[in-house]
Amino acid sequence: MQIEGLVAVITGGGSGLGEATARALHAGGAKVAILDLARSKGAEIADELGENAAFCEADVTSEEQVSAALDAAIDGFGALGAAINCAGIGSAGRTVGRDGAPFDLGIFRRTIEINLIGTFNVIRLAASRMVENDPNADGERGVILNTASVAAFEGQIGQCAYSASKGGVVGMTLPIARDLSRAGIRVMTIAPGLFETPMLMGLPEPAREALGRSIPFPPRLGRPTEFASLACEIVKNPMLNGEVIRLDGAIRMQPK
Ligand SMILES: NC(=O)c1ccc[n+]([C@@H]2O[C@H](COP(=O)([O-])OP(=O)(O)OC[C@H]3O[C@@H](n4cnc5c(N)ncnc54)[C@H](O)[C@@H]3O)[C@@H](O)[C@H]2O)c1
Repeated sequence: MQIEGLVAVITGGGSGLGEATARALHAGGAKVAILDLARSKGAEIADELGENAAFCEADVTSEEQVSAALDAAIDGFGALGAAINCAGIGSAGRTVGRDGAPFDLGIFRRTIEINLIGTFNVIRLAASRMVENDPNADGERGVILNTASVAAFEGQIGQCAYSASKGGVVGMTLPIARDLSRAGIRVMTIAPGLFETPMLMGLPEPAREALGRSIPFPPRLGRPTEFASLACEIVKNPMLNGEVIRLDGAIRMQPK
């Protein structure tokens, strides 16, 4: 799909990978709706971008809030062409802790609720609007992009909940692409390695450098603009569908 004039909703657009993607799409001429929590910087970023950018407050786990945000984006900008899922949370803890306590089921549920069910909630609600679009010259009515993680494949010690949530995103990519193929809606997922975002910037500099050096090439953390660049290519390239692309500098995570 052409980025110029595209209407795109970006969840988690108030920070990190989502913010970079919203900025890149906006710079390419798209109209961007940043869907994020009230406490995020989403409103500030939309204000800074100015024309053709809006903040739509919503929690991705809420049917009501996501529906309202999508409808606000469509009312303000026109038919929805792209839904980019970047909202997510991390969580850590062993299945059985050193103290013998079992992993907190509430944390496990919350991680799945936001990263997996929240992603699916946005997909289903966005797709149900996209099916109404007039197809473009390639027959496309929309594109959906999700964010998993290399932890979907090589979860480390302490990542049981996070890996399960991202493994779910990887697992549903192909069946949803197949479901939506009749409508001309593509579905793709990026599985990032280690990126320089607030999620990782909270670590001390030596720890970040050590993480960066663990990447074969380039031996540094990924830049959010590099994620955004792949996101833009996925939006543009009609042959990319039903696939998960690792974006990780060849890192393969070790147990710890
Ligand atoms: N940074 C990395 O190295 C890395 C690596 C692999 C995967 N990822 C994944 O990429 C995605 C983006 O990560 P990031 O590093 O940019 O994180 P981030 O913390 O910088 O941004 C995440 C954004 O999601 C929003 N969010 C969280 N819960 C939400 C909810 N319930 N509803 C709506 N918005 C919500 C937050 O407010 C925040 O703005 C996440 O899914 C993360 O798991 C990140």
